[in-house]
Amino acid sequence: MSKPANHLFTSTQTVKEVNKWSPLIRLLHWGTVLLMAITWTFLLLHRQVGEPSGNFNYIAIHKAIGTLTFGWMLVHAVSYLFAKKPSYAQLHMPNWQILVAKLVHVVLLLLLLAMPLAGILMTMYGGRPISMFGLFNMPVFVTPDPATAKFWYGLHTGIFWTAILTTLAIHVGAVIYHMVIKKDNVLKRMG
Ligand code: HEM
Ligand code: HEM
Repeated sequence: MSKPANHLFTSTQTVKEVNKWSPLIRLLHWGTVLLMAITWTFLLLHRQVGEPSGNFNYIAIHKAIGTLTFGWMLVHAVSYLFAKKPSYAQLHMPNWQILVAKLVHVVLLLLLLAMPLAGILMTMYGGRPISMFGLFNMPVFVTPDPATAKFWYGLHTGIFWTAILTTLAIHVGAVIYHMVIKKDNVLKRMG
């Protein structure tokens, strides 16, 4: 019997489809990585290079992209909740590793909601509106209070950031372990 014309592989190859996350989750995942990288780069410029004179301001871009990240993460977290999760059967992982992987995903989603929220709240309680790329301002929607601003600042620059770095190290470390030691298809699930 002839093969369908659009068959991509010859009959001599044994092809096993990789279980993938949905296109929406893949878009949200790599979009999150990109947003994080941009947010962090502008913080680094603010800290290491120093603010240029004039209207352009690195920390303002950090705040604006960070605020966008909050909206992005809301969509990401809700989509994750309803997403069809690909089975782990192909990766031959012990149950405890599957559990840790899922836990790390949920914790990352929660932390990346908490981080920009803390940034927004510390700015608002500091009595400063957030300029969205100079296009419009997000007005102060709380009664400014220096002590509360300090509380959120502490979380933003302290606990939350440390927790994100730790959880990410586990997440990316696990991916590297799968690629280098187990030599499996873990990255293709998200590719
Ligand atoms: C996912 C989003 C965000 C990430 C990953 C992030 C990350 C960070 C980090 C790592 C720091 C510096 C911590 C330190 O070493 O002291 C920081 C500082 C800061 N962030 Fe964010 N941030 C985000 C969103 C926001 C948002 C939404 C705002 C405000 C609207 C904001 C405002 C600030 C400010 C004002 C600082 C202090 C800068 C300084 O001390 O000079 N961030 N952020
Ligand atoms: C800001 C950084 C990152 C965050 C917040 C993050 C978060 C997540 C989350 C929440 C998931 C579950 C699916 C989803 O909802 O997207 C996931 C899966 C995955 N991530 Fe990341 N990730 C980050 C960086 C990376 C990087 C740098 C890599 C590659 C080295 C990577 C590789 C993967 C892979 C392969 C999966 C699928 C794992 C599985 O099916 O169990 N991630 N990630």
